[in-house]
Amino acid sequence: MMSLRNVTFGNYELENEITVRKAIDGDVDAVYALTVPFVQSRQLLSRTREEISELMLGGFVATEMPGGELESIVGFAAVEIYSKKLAEILCLAVSETCQGKGVGKLLVQRCIDFANEKGVFELMAISSSDYFLKSCGFDYTLPDQKRALFINPTQFGR
Ligand SMILES: CC(C)(COP(=O)(O)OP(=O)(O)OC[C@H]1O[C@@H](n2cnc3c(N)ncnc32)[C@H](O)[C@@H]1OP(=O)(O)O)[C@@H](O)C(=O)NCCC(=O)NCCS
Repeated sequence: MMSLRNVTFGNYELENEITVRKAIDGDVDAVYALTVPFVQSRQLLSRTREEISELMLGGFVATEMPGGELESIVGFAAVEIYSKKLAEILCLAVSETCQGKGVGKLLVQRCIDFANEKGVFELMAISSSDYFLKSCGFDYTLPDQKRALFINPTQFGR
């Protein structure tokens, strides 16, 4: 059951004709282009086309089809499954012109559903701003769980 206020058509479609679908290999160049400005502004990690290509298996694109013409990719997110216990949302981005319309939330919902379909227990996402992730239902710990603490082995390993 979708909880997004502006979903009116299919489960992964917004009223402004933006749809979320499974990514395919042919999307790599467009997804790469989408990420470039966010890499430049250091909101996303830098990834090569090859690295983005590896994310396609668990990747989802948001597409816009103005006037029924050729679709253009306006958003991307990928789920990387580390184990049955843990997966992560990576490379989440929505093109600046389409931000604030619910596209990011729809992509995240698709990722949550994908992780659920795969039977993954916990899905994490890392962000410098937690408001967006909190608005998607994320929290610092799952109910009744202890806190996760992190260390950078390249900095603290001997
Ligand atoms: C973060 C990002 C994916 C959000 O996409 P979006 O399509 O604009 O988000 P939505 O329209 O679905 O917004 C969902 C909610 O988050 C809020 N929100 C979105 N971006 C926000 C931001 N930068 N700061 C604060 N709140 C934000 C919206 O107001 C909305 O809140 P509401 O549901 O209470 O109304 C997009 O801003 C982006 O691509 N940022 C650059 C890349 C990045 O930071 N990626 C890592 C994200 S974890």
